[in-house]
Amino acid sequence: MASITQIISWIVQDIYHGWSPLPLPPAGSFAGQTVCVVGGSTGLGLAAAEHCVNLGAAEVIITSRDNRRVSVAKEYLEGKAAKAAAATTVGKEESPPPKTECRVTAMTLDMNRYSSVVAFANDLKQIRKGQGGIDFILLNAAVIQSRYIQSPEGWQEELQVNTLGNVMLTLLLLPWLRAERENRSSPAHIAFTTSTASIATDVSKWEGWSTSGEGILNHWNKKENWPPGLSGGYPVSKVMLMYADRELNKLVVGPDGKPWVIINSMEPGMVKTEIQRHVLEDSPFLQFLAPTIIPTIFKTSENGARILIMGKLTTEEEHGHRLSRVVPQEEYRNMPVVASPMAKRLQQIVWNEITDILTKAVPEAKDALDELRRQ
Ligand SMILES: NC(=O)c1ccc[n+]([C@@H]2O[C@H](COP(=O)([O-])OP(=O)(O)OC[C@H]3O[C@@H](n4cnc5c(N)ncnc54)[C@H](OP(=O)(O)O)[C@@H]3O)[C@@H](O)[C@H]2O)c1
Repeated sequence: MASITQIISWIVQDIYHGWSPLPLPPAGSFAGQTVCVVGGSTGLGLAAAEHCVNLGAAEVIITSRDNRRVSVAKEYLEGKAAKAAAATTVGKEESPPPKTECRVTAMTLDMNRYSSVVAFANDLKQIRKGQGGIDFILLNAAVIQSRYIQSPEGWQEELQVNTLGNVMLTLLLLPWLRAERENRSSPAHIAFTTSTASIATDVSKWEGWSTSGEGILNHWNKKENWPPGLSGGYPVSKVMLMYADRELNKLVVGPDGKPWVIINSMEPGMVKTEIQRHVLEDSPFLQFLAPTIIPTIFKTSENGARILIMGKLTTEEEHGHRLSRVVPQEEYRNMPVVASPMAKRLQQIVWNEITDILTKAVPEAKDALDELRRQ
């Protein structure tokens, strides 16, 4: 677990980044690219999608559970796309050809249900099939619950969406991305949205729940073990996602030692979005403090999303890196939560539990994992 001094130092740096945003990549950095932002109808996801539109993407796909919300977001992005196209053509009719307007596609996805994840993955795999597939997939969906809520699949919602849903979607897409690598000059990119919570959480008791036979996911799935609010299920789900991400990183390295898809995790810091809503709803004290504290210490989505889109611009050498403005890769790599012998065992245990759950529940996930293991 990170020390209190470390956590305070991260928070102070992060507050400073609210006033000092990361520079945006150069104009045209996403020219011709097809991007999918999972959870792209609000908050950081919508802001990341907007950056991609403004930076020249050819198509931006966004998802939501809610048809109406995703339609509103699509309309908003289409407005931005029209503006971006007009800005690059006005007054330049003589020289460069008019810029093609970014196409915005809205899709529905509910990670609370495996059937929805399978259907979404099947639809996504049709996009640019045989032409290289999707260039950048930003896996951004997550939830923070202040009460114990179970998904229809029987898992507490944060475990279901933030961990199992994101890992399952990745597994389902990887064989397709591997096949599409032949049709590309460079690997596609996947980026997970991570959180400082993943490296600040105490995991020292986790192994005991595995050796006792209970299982780590089963332990956290029990209502009596689930602590509500920001310190509860959310950090746990993000630690598990981090361990799964580190195992997925190994799975996508080909016999030549190079990744056929580049996977990164991106840490946006504290951002004012809707994610805090359930915590605020249940805490009159936080509701009272929120109007003063949130605008002071939380950055805007526009600012926070700048690091998320960097997940498209990493090199093969940066495969597996965690991009953060407060915890550099070198420091992260050596943190006990990932580098200690116990953490390495935990990573393997959590991965085995996740893959066991997913492959038993969903035949398509088993097929995908079997295929990926047949390198
Ligand atoms: N805000 C922060 O301070 C902060 C800090 C560190 C990391 N992050 C991470 O940043 C990412 C984006 O969060 P945000 O702050 O922008 O929060 P947000 O505005 O609440 O966005 C969360 C996104 O997740 C999607 N989502 C939630 N449940 C889903 C489900 N069952 N199936 C599919 N999609 C689902 C939502 O889509 P719909 O509701 O439209 O379905 C929404 O687009 C998350 O991964 C979060 O953990 C945020």
